[in-house]
Amino acid sequence: MERDNVMPIVLISLLLLALTGTAGAGPLDGPGAPTAVICSACHGFAGQSQSNTMPILAGMASWYFKKAIQDFAAGKRTSPEMEPYAKQVVQFGLDDVAAYFAAQKRTVTPVTSDPAAIERGRAAAAQCTLCHGASGKGDPAKGVPDLTGQPPGYLKSQMLLFKADKRSPGDAQLKVVKALMATIPDEQLADLAAYWSSVR
Ligand code: HEC
Ligand code: HEC
Repeated sequence: MERDNVMPIVLISLLLLALTGTAGAGPLDGPGAPTAVICSACHGFAGQSQSNTMPILAGMASWYFKKAIQDFAAGKRTSPEMEPYAKQVVQFGLDDVAAYFAAQKRTVTPVTSDPAAIERGRAAAAQCTLCHGASGKGDPAKGVPDLTGQPPGYLKSQMLLFKADKRSPGDAQLKVVKALMATIPDEQLADLAAYWSSVR
């Protein structure tokens, strides 16, 4: 007889799921949410990375998110870690996953930097603002991303990849930024990472 009681409960659960599914921007809502769960192993719950090495995806502009995923999936921006996940995202719906992360409240890294490094970075940051803007929030028209609030370890690792032409190797559009990185000593790259990470 217990079987008779199961159906209504299942139906009510499905109805509730359907209702919450249309409710908007909560971490578990939206058509991109099921795919995004896979990402939390490295990028944190709802893209809110707590780690120094993994970028925060929460609140990321969708134009930049999509470019990054397409570059990884095409093997242009080489990353053995990201390539299989990027291919999966492209397969399951890039727009939905981009919209999911863009709708999450933007968070900043919990990782803090040495105040002296931040000050040294601030003094050297003018060379970045031509492209990233005085605020560091980037410029979609020029394809330049937001640097602010990302973990300092992640920012520094990407600058070192640019410097060695290992991020999107040979990409003609990134020639200028790579040439600039090549002129900056590694210690100053760390200071710049500390500074941009601290900007709100
Ligand atoms: C095994 C760990 C791992 C998993 C799982 C993972 N990522 Fe990543 N992700 C990384 C690493 C490492 C990087 C930095 C790669 C590099 O060196 O450029 C990265 C970078 C990214 C970037 C670029 C961010 C930026 O600021 O340029 C995006 C976007 C991204 N991941 C999205 C995703 C999405 C979406 C998923 C889930 C479908 C996912 N990742 C799953 C490890 C992971
Ligand atoms: C000539 C324009 C230009 C200048 C100057 C420039 N950048 Fe960038 N930067 C870019 C572009 C374009 C990208 C996006 C690359 C891509 O799409 O893969 C980028 C990406 C980055 C990233 C990777 C962000 C992420 O989420 O993965 C970091 C870190 C970065 N820049 C730091 C800096 C710093 C620090 C400076 C100053 C020392 C600087 N950039 C100066 C154009 C520039």
